Formats: sequence, structure tokens, C-alpha cells
Amino acid sequence: MAFLFNSDAERAKIFAAEFARELPSLPFVTDASSVDPAAVRYLLTWTAPQDLERYVNLEVLFSIGAGVDQFALDRLPKSVKLVRMIEDGITRMMQEYVTLAVLALHRDLPGYLGQQGAGEWRVRPVGQAAERRVGVLGLGNLGQAVLDRLRPFGFPLSGWSRSPREIPDVACHHGEGALADFLANQDILICLLPLTAETRGILNASLFSQLPRSAGLVHVGRGPQLDTEALVAALDNGHLAGAVLDVTDPEPLPADHPLWRHPKVIITPHIASVTQPETAAKTVVANIRRHQAGLDLIGLIDRNRGY
Ligand code: GLV
Repeated sequence: MAFLFNSDAERAKIFAAEFARELPSLPFVTDASSVDPAAVRYLLTWTAPQDLERYVNLEVLFSIGAGVDQFALDRLPKSVKLVRMIEDGITRMMQEYVTLAVLALHRDLPGYLGQQGAGEWRVRPVGQAAERRVGVLGLGNLGQAVLDRLRPFGFPLSGWSRSPREIPDVACHHGEGALADFLANQDILICLLPLTAETRGILNASLFSQLPRSAGLVHVGRGPQLDTEALVAALDNGHLAGAVLDVTDPEPLPADHPLWRHPKVIITPHIASVTQPETAAKTVVANIRRHQAGLDLIGLIDRNRGY
């Protein structure tokens, strides 16, 4: 029985130390060619290896990232449990980034950056937090964590998800039928949805038109959820006031893409949240223990839903 670790050497060192301490009897392998594929029960990786079918006794496939859309789910035998990364480092970084982005839009940072570029000292109108409605699309553990961190600022908070959720002080909406009403009441919309067949292209002209005029967008889901042309159009015609994008389609955006130099847009290169090996290793160890004890895994993917 072995655990095969397929990521960079720096992370491997940290994982190896944690495994040596916590699961000393489970061989921790970083070189796939040094292990009999039939011995590998656990694999941690970003993408599935080309020769995945050689791992005939694989029990759990751990994604090193928060998402699993990079895996072709139909290539993965049904017997293999697929687990996304839920760990404190990812959560904390996402909370930081979304707070930064929401406050940037709330206080019109894109407008001030434009003025700074022009050497212009001018006060812009400012709204109050109690009047700025902030909503999250996607109420999984990251969506909920982000709402939690935004709570003290006093924004009216709401969220939308596919299945019902209850979160203190957050107006929760669920299902297709509730989406239009949810969108109509958001001044800042945060996308934290997983990428699935249903969410691909969801941030499109129709969705933008359902937001109130002058709404802002924070996109920290996945690039292919965003129709970049529709976003440029909505910003240019004044329907949307601003956007903070950490993910785009494609990544990176081509050098001449209008979003790069758009005065209402702040772009970062998919850095909102990054798996932190120290905390991730603890989560993976805990999940292996749970698996061995026959307990539910944290972050287990429902193959039918795709997240
Ligand atoms: C990053 O986007 C991740 O999936 O962790």
C-alpha cells in the first residue's frame, strides 16, 4: 500500500514530514517510476496522470486544489473516491482576497487608480456599507467562509446555491427559480461556483442584465464561467460599474484583450487562493484516517453533481 504524491518538490518535503510523523506505516512516494502502480491506494495530484488506468487499486484521488474540474470524471473508475482540497490555507486566502475585492469595489478603487494614473486629486461619490448589498453565488465551504469574513463590515449579505442552505445573518436563496430575484438585489456579486456543465458560461449577458445598474462583479470561481465579451459590453454600456477578476477565459488573457486595460477592471493571475502545504498535509492525513476508519471523506465529490 502506498501514497503517491505528484506535485512540486517543495510541497513534497512538507507533506513527507507530516506523513512520516502521522502515518509512518504508509509509504510516501514522490517518484511514480519507483513504485508498483498496483500498490498505490492514494494519489494526490493536480491533474490525472496519462497512465491512470495502471493504478488498478487506487482508492482515493486527492486534488491538490480546491476544484476538480481539471479531471475528466468519466475516465475515473466509479470505485475511486475523488476528493477536493478543503484546508485552512485555501479558506483563509480566499477570505482575504474576496474581502479585498469587495472593499475595492465598495470604495471605488478602480476609479481612484484611474485618477492616480492621470494625476487627478478628486473625491468620488461613496456609498455606505449598510446600503451595499453583497451576494455570493455558491455556498460551499469557501462561499460560507467568505460571507463570514464580510459580516463585520455591515453589508447586507445574501447567497445563492443549488441546494438549500441556512447561514446566520445571510439571506439564502436556492435553485434555478430563485436566481433572478437574488441577482436583482445584489450590488456586488461574488462568483464562487464550481465549474460544471451547468455553471459553464453562467456569467453572461443575461445574468449581467439581471443585476441592478452599477453593480460590481468579483470572479473567483473558474474562468470558463465568464463570458468576457459580455463583461466588457456590460462595463462599457455602464450597466456594471466594476469587476475584480482572479480567473479569466482563457488564462492568461491574450495581451491585447480589452479587459487588461479596462479602467473599471482589476485583474490578478489566478492567485486568490493557493493550497498551503502545511495545512493541506494535515487535511489529507485526516482524510486518510477517515477513509481507513470507513468514515465520510471531507471534500468528497458527488460524481453526479460534479462538485
Ligand atoms: C485553485 O484555483 C484551486 O483549485 O485550488
